[in-house]
Amino acid sequence: MATTPDRPGCHALDASLIERLHAVQQRHGYLPRAELQQLAVAMQRPLSDVMGVASFYHLFRLVPPPLHRCVVCRGTACFVRGAERLEAGLRRRGVAFETASCVGACGQAPVLVIDGTVGYGDPGALPEQ
Ligand code: FES
Repeated sequence: MATTPDRPGCHALDASLIERLHAVQQRHGYLPRAELQQLAVAMQRPLSDVMGVASFYHLFRLVPPPLHRCVVCRGTACFVRGAERLEAGLRRRGVAFETASCVGACGQAPVLVIDGTVGYGDPGALPEQ
């Protein structure tokens, strides 16, 4: 890939941008749009470049995180014992959640992890968001 002397190659730019995005996310817990705009100006890049990298990587958040982090296990044991019902219950309540493959507590399936604590799959016991 050709580069110009005053404009770094894509890989160098992406690595630098990723480091800066990590720093922003550490400060705010997510990537506020105003910060992304400032970053684009500082790096002399279009906002679309910054947004492209920020939205490509799953670990970057473009919206503020919920008050509680809920993770539904979708591993085999949890799937067989009702992970889909658990997810449906969470959706009905409007609770944001992430999914995981197996959290190592298959004996308690279906498993829901709330703020790092493993629990049984009972959406009724969830904290309000
Ligand atoms: S499959 Fe859910 S904890 Fe292992």
